[in-house]
Amino acid sequence: MDQQSNQTNEHASFLTLEQFIIDRQKAFPHSTGAFSRLLRDLSVAAKIISRNIRRAGILDVLGETGTVNVQDEKQKKLDQIAHRELVRALQRGGQCCLIGSEEASDTITMDSDRETPERYAVFFDPLDGSSNTDVNASVGTIFSVYLLPDEWAPDNIVDVSLQRGAEQVAAGYVAYGSSTILVFTTGNGVNGFTLDPSIGEFLLSHPDLRIPDRGTMYSVNEADVGDFAPELRAFLRWVKRKDPDTGRRIRARYIGSFVSDFHRNLLGGGIYMYPSTADHPDGKLRLMYEANPMAFLVEQAGGRATDGHQRILDIEPTSLHQRTPLFIGSRPLVEAAERFLRGEQTHT
Ligand code: AHG
Ligand code: MN
Ligand code: MN
Repeated sequence: MDQQSNQTNEHASFLTLEQFIIDRQKAFPHSTGAFSRLLRDLSVAAKIISRNIRRAGILDVLGETGTVNVQDEKQKKLDQIAHRELVRALQRGGQCCLIGSEEASDTITMDSDRETPERYAVFFDPLDGSSNTDVNASVGTIFSVYLLPDEWAPDNIVDVSLQRGAEQVAAGYVAYGSSTILVFTTGNGVNGFTLDPSIGEFLLSHPDLRIPDRGTMYSVNEADVGDFAPELRAFLRWVKRKDPDTGRRIRARYIGSFVSDFHRNLLGGGIYMYPSTADHPDGKLRLMYEANPMAFLVEQAGGRATDGHQRILDIEPTSLHQRTPLFIGSRPLVEAAERFLRGEQTHT
């Protein structure tokens, strides 16, 4: 067989993201072409961001811009590039009338006086874990999609755009790791697509992802343990015990890039925690574009996400950049964390 037909066969069994979207369009919450177009726009931005990250060392896109974002965090050049590409793709697509981004202090409205039947609002963390870019470690993009409620009007669009995570119509992330993978849900399971750079297509590589109940990894910034509540310290002691069934201990894994830590735990089972600390009394992660989309994904994969006391998807948002403590991952591990935090369990 010559090389060309070999390459053709290599891709023959994989569905592209676009084929998948068309095939599953009826199972999506809105079988309109607009929703498919929105997903495609997001995937186009992801390819451009991926390309910038892959060639970062030679494109002069590393380092800081000298500016800070609304959360007073130093912005990296790649934060701004990723933000710009997502806004551009959504603007060009015309399906989205409101954007909320980590890198913009206020929501951005687009064509809000136009009679757009679909009225999508998209919230995103353009580049998550961006402190890792200069050291060649994995980073990601997180996105969350809502349909604006019927009472939407140009003068109330910002207020009505903040909805509970349970109202999301789609959510996903792109992990720029050893390969680039896009994982998303529309409320009908979770599917992962690996970018094949040779053909520029996302191919269905991880159909119907389920998070294993048995968690093999825990992820938390343990440098902060002195600031953790005693109940959480008790949970950490419990989680590190030898499993009575297997005689094995859980492993610690923490990259400091939520997307990468989440993706690994989704595939292998585990729990990711960012609790409240002295520096971050409300936790560090943001509800609208970090916790909510990942909570939707993890529930769709059979897992659980809470702030320690309440299901993340039930939290009533009050502002675009609000933070929340987060415990997310395999259901039995997250439920155990909740028992400890409520004081119902205190030791092994
Ligand atoms: P971002 O780069 O979008 O600001 O997010 C960084 C977040 C998250 O990705 C990561 O899990 C967490 O910050 C790490 O924080 P610590 O360094 O405090 O552990
Ligand atoms: Mn982030
Ligand atoms: Mn970010």
